[in-house]
Amino acid sequence: MTEASNEGLKLTSLSVLRAGRPVTHDVSIHVPPGQVTTILGPNGAGKSSTAAAIAGLVAVGSGSIHANGSDITGMRPERVRAEGVSVVPEGRRLLTDLTVEDNMRVASYSLGKAAAAEGLDYTLQLFPELEKRWDIGGRLLSGGEQQMVVLAQALVSKPKVLVVDELSLGLAPIVVKRLVPVLAEVANSGVAVLLIEQFAHLALELATKAYVLEGGRIRYDGTAAELSEQPELLHAAYLLRD
Ligand SMILES: Nc1ncnc2c1ncn2[C@@H]1O[C@H](COP(=O)(O)OP(=O)(O)OP(=O)(O)O)[C@@H](O)[C@H]1O
Ligand SMILES: [Mg+2]
Repeated sequence: MTEASNEGLKLTSLSVLRAGRPVTHDVSIHVPPGQVTTILGPNGAGKSSTAAAIAGLVAVGSGSIHANGSDITGMRPERVRAEGVSVVPEGRRLLTDLTVEDNMRVASYSLGKAAAAEGLDYTLQLFPELEKRWDIGGRLLSGGEQQMVVLAQALVSKPKVLVVDELSLGLAPIVVKRLVPVLAEVANSGVAVLLIEQFAHLALELATKAYVLEGGRIRYDGTAAELSEQPELLHAAYLLRD
């Protein structure tokens, strides 16, 4: 076995299958550690399919997925997680019949006792407001608090790679504003963060590198700063909401 390198997440010529048919083609994306990378794209572009393939939830037709040098292509979800890759799928909700504490317990049960305790400390450091909501039922939380719990569940294992599919979906702008610095902090601590968004505003603010996916293919690959200066490209791909 080769020694794990710290190169983050790498998708190479990836084609993801949905119902046996490829919905992405030749998608190559690098998510380096220590920064946020974004995939932008309109409805049906193949963003969530790509996230699901990274998580081990849908099949890969061709190409590969590597996390810090390990080939995780086609691995089962629990093995992907064990490789240090956490994926928050689009529309992930917490278990609203359970308390915050029990939701966090569900997310950390496969970790050892010491790792679980360390992970809980880490997530409470990122989201201190969850502490006073600890024994509250999930359905009594605000939308923003619920999204915090979902992110905390993904972060409790202290992943090296974090993939978030549509962080801002259904959340008020003020709530999103609270979550943004947390993603920046996680990235700054050395995690490779991939933020998938339909709309450009939030993602381009946070990201260093950006990709535009349209019709299953990469249409732009460059810096987020350069993409911000191309409103015609963003408009053409319906990535601006105004
Ligand atoms: N479970 C499924 N079975 C079959 N086809 C699917 C399934 N889920 C998605 N697809 C198809 O895969 C393609 C890509 O969809 P995907 O959800 O990955 O796009 P997306 O970029 O995440 O879009 P959105 O912005 O709407 O979330 C679409 O053509 C969609 O119809
Ligand atoms: Mg999607």
